[in-house]
Amino acid sequence: MILKSPSQSQNVELIKKIKDGKFKIAVYGLGHVGAPLAAVWLRAGAHVIGVDKSKKVLAEARKGKTTIPEPNVNEAFKHGINSGRFSLYDDPIKASQDSYFKMICVPVLSQDQDLSADLSAVSEVATMIGKGLKKDDVVSLNPSVPPGTTEDVVIPIVERESGLNVTSDFCMIYNPERIYEGRAVKDIEENYPAIISSVGPKSKEIAFTIYSLIFKKGVLLLDSIRTAEAEKLFEGVYRDVNIALANEIAKFCEAAGIDFWQARDAANSQPFCHIHKPGIGVGGACIPVYSQFVLDVAKKINVLCEVTNISRAINDGMPSYCVRQAIRLLKFSELPKSTVTILGLAFRGDVSDTRLSPTYSIIRELQKFGVKNIRIHDPFVSNDPNLLKYDNVSLTSDLKKAVKDSDLIILSTDHQEYKKLGKKFIGNIPVYDGRGLLDRNLTNKLKILTIGQGNNKIK
Ligand SMILES: NC(=O)c1ccc[n+]([C@@H]2O[C@H](COP(=O)([O-])OP(=O)(O)OC[C@H]3O[C@@H](n4cnc5c(N)ncnc54)[C@H](O)[C@@H]3O)[C@@H](O)[C@H]2O)c1
Repeated sequence: MILKSPSQSQNVELIKKIKDGKFKIAVYGLGHVGAPLAAVWLRAGAHVIGVDKSKKVLAEARKGKTTIPEPNVNEAFKHGINSGRFSLYDDPIKASQDSYFKMICVPVLSQDQDLSADLSAVSEVATMIGKGLKKDDVVSLNPSVPPGTTEDVVIPIVERESGLNVTSDFCMIYNPERIYEGRAVKDIEENYPAIISSVGPKSKEIAFTIYSLIFKKGVLLLDSIRTAEAEKLFEGVYRDVNIALANEIAKFCEAAGIDFWQARDAANSQPFCHIHKPGIGVGGACIPVYSQFVLDVAKKINVLCEVTNISRAINDGMPSYCVRQAIRLLKFSELPKSTVTILGLAFRGDVSDTRLSPTYSIIRELQKFGVKNIRIHDPFVSNDPNLLKYDNVSLTSDLKKAVKDSDLIILSTDHQEYKKLGKKFIGNIPVYDGRGLLDRNLTNKLKILTIGQGNNKIK
């Protein structure tokens, strides 16, 4: 593995072509990953072609707007449109014909049936890119994928559709995106080195030149694409397993009458101890999905990944466990006529992304206990078609309205806005804090039960 800093020798001619707008970059999928990447290239002076299946995403981009709330992206889009450096295409083959560098930024999620990776969007885009591919073009796959996807799925499609060969005609790069939603542009430009692995003529030099133009932290060149694909999944597995450990310790503390949060702070003062935060559930399109990809591959090659497996089960069980804790703050017989307010629909704090949010599981768990009236508050989500699946569930961005006359509040998402909730809002309503977010002084005065704290509030 080599770490190269941007100051090391680069292909000067290629950089000039990118900055002059001649080496056009097509970004396929302008979502949470693709939109910030397109913005970063625009900020670096490149000509970007944006491609997306969604008419709405393209229409907004043509107005210089993104559909995802991410700092600095709207500004870059607007400037790109005004300067003629940002073109939006609804023809993916033409986008491939007109560009030299093609980035695949479409989603790879778990399939509902067996939780294996759904590569349909990636395969579709690879087909379109292949149909428009020219000799010496560069293709980059960016989503997190099971090891083997680039070499066994994407390259064969591109070669078949183009009639070109990766060992002599074009470059294939794997570059997993490592952004944290809400600070994606900063992460790409300043916070992390790019992970790169590639095949094809001069591919290492080209990959290094292209990526070191935007990643100030440099480029980590890995020898094998499979290793680069696995690396990204391991980042997610590490988080999943450590959150599961925090959840296990938190449950132990609750039963033993120990304050998890004080114990955690004290333990983490030792430099080798990094106990994560426990929580009501692990959601989003990354952490739970990446562990699942590893488990799916492990099954196929007959390897037992026991820690990953049990961690997934622990984290998946948290919404049910936490709801059982929360409803103990009410009388069981009163549950069917109770109104429960859930604070937060996004899968984590201060983002609007609701994919695989634990809040959906909380709704289902409450309904199993006969709760009929459920209100959800989220400052960042004003509309969610997924909620149509559930009866008697309303969504509002008005906190006062959400909490008024409620019988129980369950804090599901760690939006910073909830940190300042005080007696004025909560009054005498019992609260289950599933994220350990609320002020500890407050939790002693009001009827608040925090994950990881003893059961002393439960009658
Ligand atoms: N969201 C994150 O924080 C994050 C972080 C790191 C890595 N990733 C990886 O990036 C991948 C992409 O995630 P995302 O969060 O950007 O997804 P997303 O759903 O936010 O955006 C995907 C975009 O691709 C478009 N699209 C879907 N199919 C298409 C097709 N066939 N042709 C053209 N456009 C198409 C969609 O309309 C959408 O605009 C994920 O699968 C994940 O592996 C995500």
